[in-house]
Amino acid sequence: MAMKTVVIISGSGSNLQALIDRANEIGIEISGVISNREEAFGLQRAQRAGITTALVDHRQFESRETFDAALSETIDGMQAQLVILAGFMRILTPEFTRRYEGRMLNIHPSLLPKYRGLHTHRRALEAGDEWHGATVHFVTEELDGGATIIQAPVAVSSADSEETLAAKVHAVEHRIYPLAAQWFAEGRLRLEQGVAYLDNAPLPVEGYQYHD
Ligand code: GRF
Repeated sequence: MAMKTVVIISGSGSNLQALIDRANEIGIEISGVISNREEAFGLQRAQRAGITTALVDHRQFESRETFDAALSETIDGMQAQLVILAGFMRILTPEFTRRYEGRMLNIHPSLLPKYRGLHTHRRALEAGDEWHGATVHFVTEELDGGATIIQAPVAVSSADSEETLAAKVHAVEHRIYPLAAQWFAEGRLRLEQGVAYLDNAPLPVEGYQYHD
């Protein structure tokens, strides 16, 4: 049985697209896509694939707590077993993250713990880093801070701009996010006391290192 998965987005949804394209193969069924922004292109991608969509617009709520409560209600209404944050640009309350702990994943465009937060490509370039990349991790209360599952390093070249680097990172994101979702759907991946386990063995803190 495919694992019922809800994907939450705020924007373009190219990671969502990668998951849609490979859903059958990796054993997930995307039972819904939720966005906090009406204009998110990812909503169109979902609709095109015949997936139920929902808009939970944060501007219509008085507080993070009431927004997160509405978000949980929508997620639970879609019977999610796995929750995937894919370019979702809101900070979540501790209550929300605790509710989905161990079954909520995020992808971040840096080699965490480097460059939590925004503008990661610019920051990697400004620092003169030789390596940049993307990280899939379990979501916990700490922003971009839960146990790492997979990291994909990307070599930075002297010719890279923020845009070219972002494109390289996106390309690896589209490989590692479906892979992490597949491991989870197959029951091979779990979070236990803050540590990510793959096939019953703890993953290293920097996660499984993905190479093409
Ligand atoms: C990705 O770079 C992801 O790492 C970050 O937001 C971006 C989302 O891109 N969290 P997309 O909407 O999936 O194209």
